[in-house]
Amino acid sequence: MNQTNTSRRVAIVTGGIGGLGTEICRHLARAGRQVVALDLAARSERVAAFHDELAEFGDAIGFAPLDVSNFDSCQQAIAQIENRYGSVDIVVNAAGITRDASLRKMTPQQWHELMQVNLDGVFNICRNVVDGMSARGFGRIVNISSVNGQTGQFGQTNYSAAKAGVHGFSMALARETARKGITVNTVSPGYCDTPMVAAVPDDIRAQIIAGIPVGRLGAPADIARAVAFLTADDAGYITGANLPVNGGYFMSF
Ligand SMILES: NC(=O)c1ccc[n+]([C@@H]2O[C@H](COP(=O)([O-])OP(=O)(O)OC[C@H]3O[C@@H](n4cnc5c(N)ncnc54)[C@H](O)[C@@H]3O)[C@@H](O)[C@H]2O)c1
Repeated sequence: MNQTNTSRRVAIVTGGIGGLGTEICRHLARAGRQVVALDLAARSERVAAFHDELAEFGDAIGFAPLDVSNFDSCQQAIAQIENRYGSVDIVVNAAGITRDASLRKMTPQQWHELMQVNLDGVFNICRNVVDGMSARGFGRIVNISSVNGQTGQFGQTNYSAAKAGVHGFSMALARETARKGITVNTVSPGYCDTPMVAAVPDDIRAQIIAGIPVGRLGAPADIARAVAFLTADDAGYITGANLPVNGGYFMSF
């Protein structure tokens, strides 16, 4: 692959076949990126649906199975992608799970399972891409956090801690890599119209929508366009930032 051909930069998207991940893959492919979605192999029906949904992009969007909670698997997957496509230039960490329970009922398993995916997963991926990005002098990393990491949410001490942690991680890595042409940012979605939010009981979802100034859930495309913006080749002066995309649900400096 010709590394100077910036229109074919290689992007990986963890949680790439999920509600937000699929749309992020689509937006990055439209921006001319070679995209590889990384997600759990166990979701074979969803993998097939993902290929159907994005068939128009052909080989520009690939899929590779990966459990982001496993460091060695991340190392191997990234090495294979670098071998096949020449580099990993853009990373979007969108893999995420919830394990909701009030703290008084939360089990250590619920805590650890969530941390292993939502926080360790970000480390496992970033740790294995920064050397290559540094050597090539270019990288764009976007970690998907959440408004609930900014505000806290009832029943989500684990999720809120991990998502706040994702931004702390991103700011620290942004400082470490800024001189190497690498930017590291977070996007913090509000409540979006995806399976994750569809699983919320109807009455609670109605309450959530009533509290959103824009008056609707976010569409996956609302998030994906923010990711495309932050991963653009000319976005090199935005780093260590958090971009909230929440319909005005939570506003702050
Ligand atoms: N949907 C929302 O309203 C919302 C709001 C704020 C933040 N987020 C965050 O956005 C990201 C994407 O969420 P979504 O709404 O698309 O959810 P989703 O459940 O549709 O997608 C998440 C994807 O992550 C994958 N995944 C789970 N564990 C994995 C693992 N160990 N290894 C690899 N992949 C794994 C799942 O298979 C799934 O495809 C998550 O990090 C989530 O926390 C979502």
